[in-house]
Amino acid sequence: MNYQISTDSAAEVQASCIVVTIDQSGKLSDSAAAIDSASQGYLQARFAAGDIQGKTAQTLLLPAVAGIKAGRVLLVGTGKETLTATAAVKILNAIATATAGIKGSIALALETLSSNALPGAWWAEQTALAFGNALYRYTATKSKQDDNGEPAQPDTLIWLGSDQSAALAKGEAIAQGVSYAKHLGNLPPNICTPSYLASEAQKLAANGALDVTILDEEELEKMGAGAFVSVAKGSSQPGKMIVMKYNGAADNNTAAHMILGKGITFDTGGISLKPGLNMDEMKYDMCGAASVLGTMKALLALKPAINVIGMITSAENMPAGHASKPGDVVTTLSGKTVEILNTDAEGRLVLCDAMTYGINTFKPASLVDIATLTGACMAALGRVNSGLFTTDETLAGELQQAASYSGDKVWRLPLEDDYQELLDSNFADIANIGGPLAGATTAACFLSRFTEGTPWAHLDIAGTAWNSGGKTKGATGRPVPLLVNYLLAK
Ligand code: BES
Ligand code: MN
Ligand code: ZN
Repeated sequence: MNYQISTDSAAEVQASCIVVTIDQSGKLSDSAAAIDSASQGYLQARFAAGDIQGKTAQTLLLPAVAGIKAGRVLLVGTGKETLTATAAVKILNAIATATAGIKGSIALALETLSSNALPGAWWAEQTALAFGNALYRYTATKSKQDDNGEPAQPDTLIWLGSDQSAALAKGEAIAQGVSYAKHLGNLPPNICTPSYLASEAQKLAANGALDVTILDEEELEKMGAGAFVSVAKGSSQPGKMIVMKYNGAADNNTAAHMILGKGITFDTGGISLKPGLNMDEMKYDMCGAASVLGTMKALLALKPAINVIGMITSAENMPAGHASKPGDVVTTLSGKTVEILNTDAEGRLVLCDAMTYGINTFKPASLVDIATLTGACMAALGRVNSGLFTTDETLAGELQQAASYSGDKVWRLPLEDDYQELLDSNFADIANIGGPLAGATTAACFLSRFTEGTPWAHLDIAGTAWNSGGKTKGATGRPVPLLVNYLLAK
């Protein structure tokens, strides 16, 4: 997408479509009023005729409006109350969807909607993101025969008003990261394997200032990463740990902020096999990893002056003769032993060794892991919020701030010592499951044993990383907007 800033009036701007707003009382924005007077009251007449009621995110596309230079007008409702961020995003998604099939340029007169809570820069960033979401198409594994030709779509957004080019560039970088994360998530699991994720990291490195190291399964076994290997060994696809270093800080020795993604490219549950219904969706169990790749891609575009390490811990969780069994005890890279009571609680096993490796090797200033970790988190929070677990109030505040600004929401869930005893084992230092209660919290408690005092937070994205079933089935690209905003504020 190309971006332009223009101070042309709404009636004068040359574009395939101009987007202006109307509220529920029929009040036109200044730009809408300018078009209304140029067209002898055409917009007011549409409201009077009931073609649009101005309800939040309602749209009316009007071709060939007389007296103006743009080819079409999209009239958008803004409702009656002061706009909340949720309503604003709904409006932007409606605009992007309604104009997604229009060739050429879309001019947006939206700055009148800005407020103290939602400033112009916020609107610009969210606009780029909304168009990115509306224009995303999955095509990777569809044959040409299925292709009805390239659909028409806009190639330029014209922002009317003050110079929001930095916010548009930020939104575009996030949108590219989101699309990339969606693409990786949606790829089938016979293509998107741990080796594939490793090659994607190397591709990113080839195109930008990223230093990539891949640790293979043999190396990890020799190192003593017994928890990681206990999962990876069940599959004929070799497991990988992927380290991507982005050095943007003036001083190379500035401690990096680390993000670590769960990359289970397919989760059958292992010997604790999952039921068959909807098991295909366990290809999305690498969406944490995808969000790390998407975030690194956005950072490469934005070049912030910070050091960030993106890590991915990747394996396929399969039932096999050489797979782990319930009751197996393994030794983690930290030296702690784990009794594997359920092979389906594999995410924490690949994550704990990656945490130990990352913390010991890089001594990061902070660590945030992102994982499709528990069905329990999805049951608690649905598809709206990702679960946030941390005992570090500073990190909690930073992540909550980034979440509310980006609209990529999180909800804090408990991580108190009182829950730790649920992981007690008679045969190892710790069990890998905590029983039927507080499943999202016991998973976080398990990870908390491996932080070595590093400021750490855990994001459980089981409910937010993809939409299941039906026409909207697909990866969401979350929480790339959250992670990019969080890191840029460092
Ligand atoms: N990848 C799953 C979690 C998951 C399940 C995410 C469904 C989204 C939708 C994870 O590896 C898993 O299987 N977790 C188990 C943990 C249990 C065995 C303690 C779960 O949530 O059932
Ligand atoms: Mn599992
Ligand atoms: Zn899993």
